[in-house]
Amino acid sequence: MFVTFEGIDGSGKSSLSEAAENNIVPRLGRERVIRTHEPGGWEKGQGLRSLILSGSSESTWTEVLLFLADRCEHVHRVIGPAILSGKVILCERFTDSTVAYQSYGRGFPKDIIEVFSQRAGFPVPDITFWIDLPVGTALKRIRGRGTAPDRFEKDPGLLERIALGYRTIHESEPERVFRIDGNLSPEVISSEVSSVILDRLEAWQDRGEK
Ligand code: TYD
Repeated sequence: MFVTFEGIDGSGKSSLSEAAENNIVPRLGRERVIRTHEPGGWEKGQGLRSLILSGSSESTWTEVLLFLADRCEHVHRVIGPAILSGKVILCERFTDSTVAYQSYGRGFPKDIIEVFSQRAGFPVPDITFWIDLPVGTALKRIRGRGTAPDRFEKDPGLLERIALGYRTIHESEPERVFRIDGNLSPEVISSEVSSVILDRLEAWQDRGEK
């Protein structure tokens, strides 16, 4: 089962996917669960991650191609094999991030991301958890970390457009994309997320799937 965590910077994806992992490993066993992230969630992916996050791309096309190249390796080496062996994959960020950030955020054509993703064989997540947190709260958190990317400072509307992108994705695919209220306590959120995953797994097992 392929599960993704999405949301604007500072929305708490990492803590949530870690808490979900801690909740479901005792039920399923360590070897059935993997946690990964983008960009750079594959062996030797750190170099590409640093290049992407250094902000050296002037063209949005370069930025998109780097995220997609990273995803090709990640799918080929990590996610694809894990899906084939029946694991539960908890992945922070995937195609929805590219659509929200590069398309809604920066105006890159969405259809190109969609066609590329389909032709490259990127899996569609079985469940996506979108953490919906007000932009002001997220900005406070990332400024508090002292690592606020300056693109958000240079373009104050950027995070708002990305947040709207996520809302639009959720509204167009409500079955796949669950909205999680980011204002709730981390304990409530992680237990909700773990129940959704375990319930879905049980339903699959009852139907003899995966
Ligand atoms: P990261 O430090 O991993 O941030 P976070 O913890 O919020 O995920 O940095 C990833 C950054 O890359 C984040 O600002 C979102 C951005 N991003 C895109 O713009 N497009 C993408 O396709 C992906 C995967 C990430």
